[in-house]
Amino acid sequence: MNIILMGPPGAGKGTQAEYIVQQFQIPHISTGDAFRLAMKEKTDLGLKAQEFVNKGLYVPDEITNGIVKERLQQPDCANGFLLDGFPRTISQADALTAMLDEMDKKLELALNIKVDRALLLARLTGRRICKECGATYHVIFNPPAQEGTCDKCAGELYQRSDDTEEKVGTRLDEYISKTTPLLQYYQDAGILKEVDGERDIDKVKLDIYELIRGQSI
Ligand code: AP5
Ligand code: MG
Ligand code: ZN
Repeated sequence: MNIILMGPPGAGKGTQAEYIVQQFQIPHISTGDAFRLAMKEKTDLGLKAQEFVNKGLYVPDEITNGIVKERLQQPDCANGFLLDGFPRTISQADALTAMLDEMDKKLELALNIKVDRALLLARLTGRRICKECGATYHVIFNPPAQEGTCDKCAGELYQRSDDTEEKVGTRLDEYISKTTPLLQYYQDAGILKEVDGERDIDKVKLDIYELIRGQSI
């Protein structure tokens, strides 16, 4: 399955991606994770990306498209992939179509996790992530057994630097102005499916499994 996972900041893309990739055995490709890793390692890409990511702004399309193109050509994408947070602009969506055309592939499902803006601030400011394995928690909605420590690997949990109230505001504005037009784009392409992301993590997960299974019959 060739899937893109859409939704506003804090919708639960990363949380659900962890389940989807295990269940369907496809690689998880998150442009946000790729930028954070490059920033941590201070590569050229990281230095360019951090100017934008640290302000809550989208990284320019040319930079973002390049990393996705390279990643999709890796052998582990042969039987499908889950793109998390890409595309986010119409121009990225056009670029993705062109990349897939070149590889004789096509997108099968654009999965949008719907969550109202009012809920997103609380989700993002309470998010904690494992330094070692990247697992995502929430101090109230999905707490680890022991505060500050990952259940899976005992790694230390940290807070993303763009999860402050001010930066979340900028990220949501970017999403509304640049990404919401994509919903119509994939609706017109006939591959948009939506899930209600305001329910419990496990309920959202089961809905998503059903949609993916329905799509692959
Ligand atoms: P990215 O890392 O993708 O950030 P984002 O889109 O803002 O989305 P998040 O990762 O914040 O949210 P999520 O939907 O994954 O939510 P999560 O599952 O963690 O991108 C970061 C930056 O990189 C961008 O701002 C931009 O600068 C740049 N970038 C990336 N891609 C780009 C692109 N294509 N073009 C240009 N720039 C790009 O969940 C959030 C919290 O809620 C967690 O604490 C979780 O435990 C909790 N939670 C999840 N589900 C539920 C639920 N059902 N109920 C209660 N709590 C829940
Ligand atoms: Mg994420
Ligand atoms: Zn961990």
